[in-house]
Amino acid sequence: METRTANAATERTVMGACFALSFLSISLLAVSACSQRDKSPAQRSAASSAPNPSSAHPDDWPSVEPPIPENTQIESRINALMAAMSVEQKVGQIIQADIASVTPEEVREYRLGSVLNGGNSGPGGNDLAPAKEWLALADKFWDASMDPALGAAAIPVIWGSDSVHGDSNIIGATVFPHNIALGATRDSDLVRRIGEITALETWITGQDWTFAPTLAVVRDDRWGRTYESYSEDPEIVREFASAMVKGLQGDPKSPDFLRNGHVISSAKHFLGDGGTGGRDQGDNASSEKELREIHGAGYPAAVAAGVQTVMASYSSWQGVKMHGHRGLLTDVLKGRMKFDGFVVGDWNGHGQVPGCNPESCPAAINAGLDMFMAPNTWKGLYKNTLAQVNAGDIPMKRLDDAVRRILRVKMRAGIFEKGKPSTRPMAGKFELLGSSEHRAVARQAVRESLVLLKNENKLLPLALNKHVLVAGDGADNIPKQCGGWTLTWQGTGISNKLFPHADSIYAGIRQAVRAGGGTAELSVKGSFKRKPDVAIVVFGENPYAEFRGDIRTIAYSPYDDRDLQLLRKLKAAGIPVVSVFLSGRPLWANREINASDAFVAAWLPGTEGAGVADVLFRKADGSVNNDFRGRLSFSWPRSPLQSAINRNDGDEKPAFTYGYGLKYYDKGSIQPLSEDVGEIPPAVETQAFLVRGKPGAGWQWVVSNESGIHKPFTDSGTQGITFAASDFKAQEDARTIHWPTAGGGARVGLGGDVGIDLKRESNGEVSLGFDYRVDEPVTGAVNVVMECGSSCSAAVPIQATLQSAPRGEWRHMKILLSCFEKGGLDASRITAPFLISSDGALALSVAEVKLETGTSDVMACGK
Ligand code: BGC
Ligand code: BGC
Repeated sequence: METRTANAATERTVMGACFALSFLSISLLAVSACSQRDKSPAQRSAASSAPNPSSAHPDDWPSVEPPIPENTQIESRINALMAAMSVEQKVGQIIQADIASVTPEEVREYRLGSVLNGGNSGPGGNDLAPAKEWLALADKFWDASMDPALGAAAIPVIWGSDSVHGDSNIIGATVFPHNIALGATRDSDLVRRIGEITALETWITGQDWTFAPTLAVVRDDRWGRTYESYSEDPEIVREFASAMVKGLQGDPKSPDFLRNGHVISSAKHFLGDGGTGGRDQGDNASSEKELREIHGAGYPAAVAAGVQTVMASYSSWQGVKMHGHRGLLTDVLKGRMKFDGFVVGDWNGHGQVPGCNPESCPAAINAGLDMFMAPNTWKGLYKNTLAQVNAGDIPMKRLDDAVRRILRVKMRAGIFEKGKPSTRPMAGKFELLGSSEHRAVARQAVRESLVLLKNENKLLPLALNKHVLVAGDGADNIPKQCGGWTLTWQGTGISNKLFPHADSIYAGIRQAVRAGGGTAELSVKGSFKRKPDVAIVVFGENPYAEFRGDIRTIAYSPYDDRDLQLLRKLKAAGIPVVSVFLSGRPLWANREINASDAFVAAWLPGTEGAGVADVLFRKADGSVNNDFRGRLSFSWPRSPLQSAINRNDGDEKPAFTYGYGLKYYDKGSIQPLSEDVGEIPPAVETQAFLVRGKPGAGWQWVVSNESGIHKPFTDSGTQGITFAASDFKAQEDARTIHWPTAGGGARVGLGGDVGIDLKRESNGEVSLGFDYRVDEPVTGAVNVVMECGSSCSAAVPIQATLQSAPRGEWRHMKILLSCFEKGGLDASRITAPFLISSDGALALSVAEVKLETGTSDVMACGK
């Protein structure tokens, strides 16, 4: 550990110096020296004449022979079509809007090339709309794009969706285990089959394109997207990239390619998303060699399998945002790997390129992006892009190349001939969503992905004719077993009722033991009417997606030991305990493992919870039903410090190595694991700062002055400011703050000792939201303030908004975090996430201070 950490630290410092230089552009030569560490002296001198911070060395990357030879018929058809296209139409073609922010009529008017549904979007503003409404809306978009008035210039729109573990946005669809679980199966044939079913179900509901597979090779498991990764090691990612792309799109050599239930696939996120030190949208500081050999491993395989689109990553490599990285997007991917499909951006990802914003980014197109994902910003982007093409800031040649690539993919996929989505073969066969055949494959995937970490006294397999207690909050909880990207973006706010064809883990156990002469008793808290012969406790992480899943320590549930106490209680009662651990990543769970007789890593199995019972139990006749087959595709940490332990990490030993996974008849006893938690960072709430009147962990009510020195706010008042409990939705769930006439700008709100990092959240999509009530008129300047340590803060004026609010009425306000960053906030160390300052007299009540996503109802930066 010591050596590795030290090396990594040195590496980071060197990199850090490189960024600092390139950032300040103190010395262009120094920049080129930094990015040229892998080069020979000859190459170095050749390149140094044109220092380019976004360069790469394409010749060092694998060259690929794409499986689809150039088709002269298609190319001449594109030529003819493009000759008839106006510049406006070309610009429309390279823009993708979200169905929550665009109408079919606008798709027609602007001739947009594509639409998507983001994680929280659905037909008619309803993310939970029934399948038939998705198909009906797909028809509307199609019809709009193929409006006969457009004549021969009509180009069908394509709809992209995150079918990342099945057609998982749609109620009733088969939800497969997340990728981390598939990694544990090592079964590429199964992965291909899962791709086929995912594509078919997606096709049935009318979408043409899925933003999958994720090819991240995740190296620090604190990242909230670890479960989207097949493995920490390139070997599995390489193999599965090919299997999944072929499953989704069909074999490029077969007539079914992109037809008959196959959809367009998107390998994502290019490139290096898994190497950002556990932070979403962060920087990957690897050398070019590591980038290529570790993080890049899946892409040559995906291109060779015929993948038609690649999604650019939000992350940066060595400080350069991937959406603006010409060296990797153009020189490596399109040049060296001969990728001839198109590169789509990620959700407003182009807006993060220096000099860009979500409505303007010639740099991204010029670097090699072909289609902007501009969910809610498409209109402004359209206007600006058009102007930039007309002004020559985006060369016509580049625009033409982007359009050509998009048309090529549409033609290859036969979109022009397929007709509107509901008329395609199998479309609208909603009975196939979650069909028994599809579910059987998902259930097989669950069986194959379970990894047995411990099996004391060969407790498993269990006999069926027993009395089984099924406990833990994951036992009968389908959303929890599905994880993020399920029906909603975060996979939260939903219940078992929304999964008509699914089985919870408990439901599967109950069916199995009943059929085998036993009984099952469900109790989340582990109480029982009759002493059980065995307890199966299902617990683990609650659903999350993207940055919401970023954690600061790899220890499982460090501030809440409810599950541990449950295991210990059962064990103390002399009941053998089987733990079924639901998680999107390996977590330090030594205490829970010690407190269990058998411990199964079940990952995020999806809708087929019954696959768990298939493996835990014998057959009714006592013979073996299904032995464990899963093997870790991620190293399992021995200490809470090992968030970045990976295969072949020298001397450092994980608790369970890559490839580990017991079978029934292995020696299943293990030595007790160290329960030393070491230094866990103190609990600090990073999302919900004030809930039901209570400050989140790590925060308290404070009064602060300009230099950012907090003093706890006492009920007796400070500086004449008083503070009283008031009611929002319940008794005393709000606070009323009263500034005297000479408020003097004193700030009152929530502060703490630990600076939290909200950099990722400041990307322009996340807001600080709160409920407020104006109790007495505003008499001076009022601001919402965030602080980042002493003499570091940013204020957003809100007096105009408060002035226009009716007195005595609760209202909601949302301010983009990026407004504070623009005002000079260092979002990486926030010590006060919410303060209100007032110059004059004011009485204001506040409640429920939280981070919120979505850009609707967001006020401009200060009003
Ligand atoms: C994610 C992508 C996803 C896209 C569309 C982004 O925030 O990073 O993985 O495909 O949204 O939902
Ligand atoms: C969308 C997701 C997207 C995310 C980006 C959400 O509002 O629903 O699809 O990935 O924003 O941060």
